[in-house]
Amino acid sequence: MAPRISSSVVSILVLFLTIQSVTIHSRSLGSTKPSLTSFHSLEGALKGQTKDGIKEVKRYLKAFGYLDYEDDDNNAALMDDKFDGTLESALKSYQKFYHLKITRKLDADTVKLMSAPRCRVPDSVHPWHAGRNATKHGKSHIVTDYAFPSGMPRWPPSQTHLSYAFGPIIGEASPSDVSEACRRAFQSWSSVSPFTFEQVPLEDSPNIVIGFYQGDHGDGYPFDGPYNILAHAFPPTNGSLHFDADEHWSTSPSSYQVDLESVAVHEIGHLLGLAHSADQNAVMFAILEEGSMKRDLRQDDINGIHALYPAQ
Ligand SMILES: *[C@@H]1O[C@H](CO)[C@@H](O)[C@H](O)[C@H]1NC(C)=O
Ligand SMILES: *[C@@H]1O[C@H](CO)[C@@H](O)[C@H](O)[C@H]1NC(C)=O
Ligand SMILES: [Zn+2]
Ligand SMILES: [Zn+2]
Repeated sequence: MAPRISSSVVSILVLFLTIQSVTIHSRSLGSTKPSLTSFHSLEGALKGQTKDGIKEVKRYLKAFGYLDYEDDDNNAALMDDKFDGTLESALKSYQKFYHLKITRKLDADTVKLMSAPRCRVPDSVHPWHAGRNATKHGKSHIVTDYAFPSGMPRWPPSQTHLSYAFGPIIGEASPSDVSEACRRAFQSWSSVSPFTFEQVPLEDSPNIVIGFYQGDHGDGYPFDGPYNILAHAFPPTNGSLHFDADEHWSTSPSSYQVDLESVAVHEIGHLLGLAHSADQNAVMFAILEEGSMKRDLRQDDINGIHALYPAQ
């Protein structure tokens, strides 16, 4: 009796392991090409062509501030898969911002970058890049890539001590990991700026509120499930920092996980008034590859925060 039971247990187990290995296999495929929205199938597309998925490229470039159809044309153009002139010029701005070769088409480097995990905050592609002209005169030929949102919003000089609190923490991240990652991320910024940060209870009207949300959470910047969009935060003095609760968050990420502290440092940069940097080494670069860590502020980030809050 017992042997018969165990042999059926074994065959169930074998079946289970087979299913498991299929699942694990597709997940490991998922970690090399993780995006729910992957643009790889569009590689080579250029103006004049119509291909399935071009509308997703338009939506992507619109979401990140590159594509500007007139309001009337908006819905129609975003619904079709035609690679039009507006898309071509948006693609050119995108390639320019990221220092890619300006090919005006969906070349391999462009689709790779567009398929990588990134911050939901739009890139600031308007000509106002204070960092760029700040270092170009004089003898210095250092090109800095930091940028600010339009209007250069910042915390008033009287507000250098900012309080923060946590809203909902849901998903794979534990509250203690989130709290520790954020504490260290705030510390990174306070070591290079006039700011100090203090955690307070949520009831104390903190300057900054950090929370985890899923999908459309009511502020016009919906999340998208696992991969692609990781987090976002608003410029001063809004103070909201939102993590996508559906990501595989970690404090020591494996190849398909996302490092909490790296994303926290980046998003706090937005809370203080920095926009995306075009320097791929900078913490303020919009893209963070899965499994990678970028916790330490780089020279470009430090130059950016100093330009925004000059020492008195
Ligand atoms: C950069 O140039 C703009 C426009 O000429 C100017 O208003 C701004 O003050 C400059 N920024 C810096 C940091 O020098
Ligand atoms: C921050 O900005 C978002 C988007 O405009 C808005 O939904 C939210 O209410 C703002 N939060 C605060 C605290 O001002
Ligand atoms: Zn960002
Ligand atoms: Zn949000």
